[in-house]
Amino acid sequence: MEIRRWGLSLVATAMSAYALDVVAAAAGAGLVAAGLLDGLRQQWVVAVLVASYAIWAWGLRANLRANGALLVATGTSTNVLSKAAYDLLVRRAKGDRAPRVAAAVTYAGTEVVKELPYYGVAFGAAVSVEAITSADALVFLAGANVAAAAYEYGLARVTRVFLSRRYASFEDDWVPARYLTDYYSAVEPDEVATIAFIVDALRHAERDRPVLFFGVGPTLHHVFAAAELASELHLGDYLPANLAELQRWIDGAPGAHDWRPFVRHTLRCEGIVDPTDAEVSAREELTKKKITQLVRVDARQAHPLDESYATVVSPYCADSATDDIATWRRLMRNITGLVRPGGLFVTAALHRSRGYTVGGRRFPSANVGADDLRAALRTDFDPARGSIEVCPTGQDAAHGYASVILCWARKRSVQDHPIG
Ligand SMILES: C[S@@+](CC[C@H](N)C(=O)[O-])C[C@H]1O[C@@H](n2cnc3c(N)ncnc32)[C@H](O)[C@@H]1O
Repeated sequence: MEIRRWGLSLVATAMSAYALDVVAAAAGAGLVAAGLLDGLRQQWVVAVLVASYAIWAWGLRANLRANGALLVATGTSTNVLSKAAYDLLVRRAKGDRAPRVAAAVTYAGTEVVKELPYYGVAFGAAVSVEAITSADALVFLAGANVAAAAYEYGLARVTRVFLSRRYASFEDDWVPARYLTDYYSAVEPDEVATIAFIVDALRHAERDRPVLFFGVGPTLHHVFAAAELASELHLGDYLPANLAELQRWIDGAPGAHDWRPFVRHTLRCEGIVDPTDAEVSAREELTKKKITQLVRVDARQAHPLDESYATVVSPYCADSATDDIATWRRLMRNITGLVRPGGLFVTAALHRSRGYTVGGRRFPSANVGADDLRAALRTDFDPARGSIEVCPTGQDAAHGYASVILCWARKRSVQDHPIG
């Protein structure tokens, strides 16, 4: 996959360099040949040239921004050196700001270097061909600059249109270890709220029944809250790599993620003011003991599992798997179909988000609002028994969303299901 990205970036670089040269050289020569600026005093020709650089910088700025977004979303670039700079930093940096700045500086640097041959050609011709004056050389450069600006801006637009149709994919781009370092190195505000909510919501769960976590990813931070009440914990996710990461934690393998700060927060939410290390370890051990199934699930299937459950917990799964609200509704229908009549569904979603970044790649989000969730649950869940709330988190700059929706809902039992 990475080879493909490099290949695509190389092809895009070659094509864009060639196209830029053709467009810029033709425009420069055309402006000289048209004679529109003939007779202009030298200082005015210089002023035109300076203005053309300002226009060029404006076009380039648009393209640098688009290229940064392209790198984050797909790992490809229209400038292969810019991709190299981005890739070098993305493995080391925490967020995607530093890699994007490095990519932009490298991109701009190569565009400036590509200007040099134009100077060589323009002034070389002015020196060696009597009919070509130094003013002609300046006019040529101004024309080339304006065309290059239009070209850069056009490339930015094409990139944006492409991106509006493309996000990173779970199959090709999801790196569990990056998700864990990006989001779970500390208990961040969204999880302070989400874990507290799940602890409260699970007070409504039927005890001593298996609990399903659907779309759990490589994470356990929501699972600890169910360890005491569940007879068994079944953890489902679409990606085998995520399930393998969970298995590493269960096995206590070297390098397995440290969930202890999350266990501590869970215990605090349950009412233990200052949980001891022994209490944290006890909850970890209990959780390991109760996990009896790691199962591959696909929310796109109408019946992702044969079993149904008294309690299903599915935070940040359906909304974080698609950018399309209609698909989100379908995924929600399939997931909630796993809740037994009368059972409990606990969920969370990024609020009004179009995407979140993991490992420098942008993954989709379905732009879900509280009303969307209410409508999605209306048919099968009792609106009088449950809760939907929007909680601000202020993590827009770091992750791509500023609030989350937290929800628990009780499925209608067979007798109170509306007719028709
Ligand atoms: C943003 S992660 C959330 C993981 C975890 N629930 C959490 O709160 O950190 C989204 C998860 O949805 C899973 N996912 C994506 N498409 C899926 C599908 N079609 N069926 C089930 N899970 C899916 C991904 O593998 C990923 O683990």
